[in-house]
Amino acid sequence: MNILVTGGAGYIGSHAVQRLLADGHQVVVLDNLCRGHREAVPAGVPLIEAGLLDGEVIEATLREHRIEAVMNFAALTYVGESVDQPLSYYENNVAGVLSLLQAMERAGVKTIVHSSTAATYGEPATMPIVEDTPQSPINPYGQSKLMVEHMLRDYAVAHDDFAFAILRYFNVAGSDPQARIGEDHDPETHIIPVLLQAAQGKREKAYIFGDDYDTPDGTCVRDYVHVVDLVDAHTVVLGALKPGDQRVYCLGIGNGMSVKEIVDAVKQVTGVDFTVEIADRRPGDPPSLYADPAKIKRELGWSAKFTDTQTMVADAWRWFQAHPEGYGS
Ligand code: UFG
Repeated sequence: MNILVTGGAGYIGSHAVQRLLADGHQVVVLDNLCRGHREAVPAGVPLIEAGLLDGEVIEATLREHRIEAVMNFAALTYVGESVDQPLSYYENNVAGVLSLLQAMERAGVKTIVHSSTAATYGEPATMPIVEDTPQSPINPYGQSKLMVEHMLRDYAVAHDDFAFAILRYFNVAGSDPQARIGEDHDPETHIIPVLLQAAQGKREKAYIFGDDYDTPDGTCVRDYVHVVDLVDAHTVVLGALKPGDQRVYCLGIGNGMSVKEIVDAVKQVTGVDFTVEIADRRPGDPPSLYADPAKIKRELGWSAKFTDTQTMVADAWRWFQAHPEGYGS
């Protein structure tokens, strides 16, 4: 297929590009490089330097490359930043997708796989989270992603042949096992890369944000899913999408790991006993978020293969060691 990958120069998008190419698809990347890296896009793959709000560029790209489906990874994704800069999140994540859908409509492209998030659930009353768990986001990031979910459903009501998938990610971790691409955020706030930076000596110490939560060891519990598994799910879902389909799935491994358990795994994998201190809770952090990914297994046969945290950490560590300055190395 001819596939447009928006945000294809970013962490998850670049892993999707790698996988789609390996599967024999023709891929075009659209990325404004505000967070992505030119070096993450393989040679030979067209990189259109534009954002989701550049509707005319998107339309022209869809037509020129005869695009048949879009995978949308382009988004701002920091919970804390979204609280400080809500309008940027609504502009990029909501108005941006509106512009993308309008361009798709003009160009006659009727299939999209859209990245959503566990942050749309807020602080759910029941755990594990399933697709039908009520969504009540507690920050503008989650809110912006939920608004797009509504947009896609409403658009589909009016267009019988439009097909979409909403994939709600839990905590994406790890990287390409061959370390060709990896995670390079600036600033970095995610727990595993932060801990790996501490192991590298790039941070004097790492902090655990709160150890007084109502969880087994007092630290927050999350469902960490390997990025290679995550993009595998995208290809499975895209392969199953037929005109008129509406598919919604939670993508996690179905198990929660606490922050303390992640710290132990990182120390074991790296062999470095870096300093970790307990700090205050981080505003907006729900105590526990993990998925029950039974629906996608039942309907499409997908489940995560790399469920061992040490493997996720080891793959991420390989990238960090090979590229100590990220893509700048
Ligand atoms: N944490 C620390 N210290 C740090 C960084 C994080 O203790 O230096 C803790 C957080 O408080 C949280 C856990 O580690 O309890 C995971 O935090 P991350 O920042 O790695 O990830 P989040 O769970 O906040 O968010 C991620 C994605 C979101 C997505 C969410 C869904 O970044 O986009 O998972 O679960 F919405």
